[in-house]
Amino acid sequence: MTQYLAEPSTETEPSSPAERPGWWRDAVIYQVYPRSFADSDGDGVGDLQGIRSRLPYLRDLGVDAVWLSPFYASPQADGGYDVADYRAVDPVFGTLLDADELIREAHGLGLRVIVDVVPNHCSDQHDWFQRALREGTGSPLRDRFHFRPGRGPAGQDPPNDWESIFGGPAWTRTENPDGSPGEWYLHLFAPQQPDFNWESPAVRDEFRSVLRYWLDMGIDGFRIDVAHGLVKAAGLPDMGRAGQLHLLGTQALPFFDQDGVHEIYRSWRGILDEYPGERIGVAEAWTPSAQRTANYLRADELHQAFNFHYLGAGWDADALRRAVDECLDAMRPVGAPSTWVLSNHDVVRHATRLAADGPEQGLRRARAAALLMLALPGSAYLYQGEELGLPEVTDLPDEVRQDPSFFRDNGQDGLRDGCRVPIPWEGTEAPYGFGPVAGGPSWLPQPDSWRDLSVEAQSGDPESTLELYRSALALRREHPALGAGDRVEWLQAPDGVLAFRRTARGPGDGRAHGELVCAVNLTGAPVRWTVPGRPLLSSGGSLPPGEAAELPAETTVWWAV
Ligand code: GLC
Repeated sequence: MTQYLAEPSTETEPSSPAERPGWWRDAVIYQVYPRSFADSDGDGVGDLQGIRSRLPYLRDLGVDAVWLSPFYASPQADGGYDVADYRAVDPVFGTLLDADELIREAHGLGLRVIVDVVPNHCSDQHDWFQRALREGTGSPLRDRFHFRPGRGPAGQDPPNDWESIFGGPAWTRTENPDGSPGEWYLHLFAPQQPDFNWESPAVRDEFRSVLRYWLDMGIDGFRIDVAHGLVKAAGLPDMGRAGQLHLLGTQALPFFDQDGVHEIYRSWRGILDEYPGERIGVAEAWTPSAQRTANYLRADELHQAFNFHYLGAGWDADALRRAVDECLDAMRPVGAPSTWVLSNHDVVRHATRLAADGPEQGLRRARAAALLMLALPGSAYLYQGEELGLPEVTDLPDEVRQDPSFFRDNGQDGLRDGCRVPIPWEGTEAPYGFGPVAGGPSWLPQPDSWRDLSVEAQSGDPESTLELYRSALALRREHPALGAGDRVEWLQAPDGVLAFRRTARGPGDGRAHGELVCAVNLTGAPVRWTVPGRPLLSSGGSLPPGEAAELPAETTVWWAV
């Protein structure tokens, strides 16, 4: 298929992530979705011991940190984003001791550990919510959630017109202890995920304590789920229109990105800063603009936020360039690093998302997109399996699906299981090393074709996507111009080609001591190109030596200058 050149520069020693101040500014952070990463006990569901056993793989891949999606006690109505006990590990994932061992062992390997915190809502099985239900209308425990009487003569209509992200109304009616219809409660996601009321001091105190609990366990930061949702507009006003899901991340909404959330993050920052070693907060914040996102990253708030505008830019040179510029320009005034992400557990994997013309093209573009992302200044998020070039699984039978929005109408597409299929590690029989026994179970079935995409199958094959990621991450550690800084210098390039120079400057004298050029040919045809330096890495197609060359179609190349 393709050949690439890897000739790492040896100008600077890679620094140990454990010792580096500002480690998070250019960190590559690898998302583990625990259910689907590695299953140590053979029950078909991934677990903490499984993750632990694969930590050396992550170290060798060359990432700086691991972000673990929730592994807390949960009925799993939303893959663990419905937390029943924020201080306990769900038995399906293991024990607190396993979590402790995992954190220690990761640190021993030079990997940081970021955990999810889910403060917008809990599980309907959470003790507070169960007690609030039992105690009935008027219980002070109901102040910790949004309980309201219904509208209409018999209270039969929801208190306002808000819609759940997963479809249907954002309200569910309760039953009184005597069996009669009672108040309604708000849930922006599934009915099993009641929203907390962040006006309640008890809620604020509880989360400060939960943060400390995990910080004391040694974690290096939090990914904050639905960080933009905690505070709702006073009086919970109607939206006045349907189809609210389509406005997410594009317009001001009474339940998202309210200015009141920032006070919460200022208080959280105080807690993070009490601990040594730069513990970080990463916002999952869907806001209408990069500027609104930057508000979460002011010096006394959080450290990073996901860049969903970049994820949504697709395979389009102008849109990508705009997304890069907008993010860098918005982050510079607040001094926060930009972040870049192509896939996560909520979206169609980019090897499929970017494919207009079949899986081969999808993989070619995905490889090019990865090298583009890893050449940008700031921090990059990888989603487990993208380093294997895994595609979305689009033909899961309905009976195995678990995404809660699949079961509700007019919500998020409901197809998030297709990016959560367990990882193929080795062997020739499913679950391909995901579980301990060949032929054993996996909670979602893996396609037969994944045998050839396993870690084992790709390791040592210089043309594989896994080796491309390994080379790129090794170069990123060794080459000072990658990751650092907050600028790209765009170069003149033909239509459909993005090219930029990255310059690393010394901290003392500000002098350039490393330059790199990255060019992405987004078009479907090779483009004439003057070689700017020594080729380091190409996502596809070998580069002939000499001054003039052809940049292959849908390919990214890095050169040291
Ligand atoms: C976030 C999570 C998603 C979850 C939702 C509700 O968007 O990434 O998986 O369903 O929050 O917690």
